[in-house]
Amino acid sequence: MTEPQATLSAAQAQTVHELLARHREQPGALLPLLHAVQDALGCVPPAAVPVIAQGLGLSRAEVHGVVTYYHHFRQQPPGRHVVQVCRAEACQSRGGEALLAAARQHLPADVTVEPVYCLGLCAQSPAVMVDEVPHARMTVQRLAALVQEGGQ
Ligand code: FES
Repeated sequence: MTEPQATLSAAQAQTVHELLARHREQPGALLPLLHAVQDALGCVPPAAVPVIAQGLGLSRAEVHGVVTYYHHFRQQPPGRHVVQVCRAEACQSRGGEALLAAARQHLPADVTVEPVYCLGLCAQSPAVMVDEVPHARMTVQRLAALVQEGGQ
């Protein structure tokens, strides 16, 4: 895994400032702003945290706490593909943990593997999302094939 960027690029800083200006006056602006930053940059870079904190009048610790509390937020840009494996109860009982472990071990290094908590496919578990597309009754073999298909 690569080291997090120590500073924002000029383009990233401009994006964060534009999004701050758009969300600053919104009540409870932090979460919508973090979503907007991740949508725009692919992640919430650690270097964006002090900028966001200052812009919203919060402490760095408050912003960092929210970024790290919610599994949705990434601090590093995602790989070429994003595989999200459900770890909630129904999927856990049908092999979701083993699927997550196998995905982390066997998928190529440019695939980001993340846990998520319920994709609404509990009756057809274990479930995953591959590049925003949900898939049910997943196996390691099917998951590897899906990732390979997505790369073509
Ligand atoms: S528990 Fe996995 S989709 Fe609901």
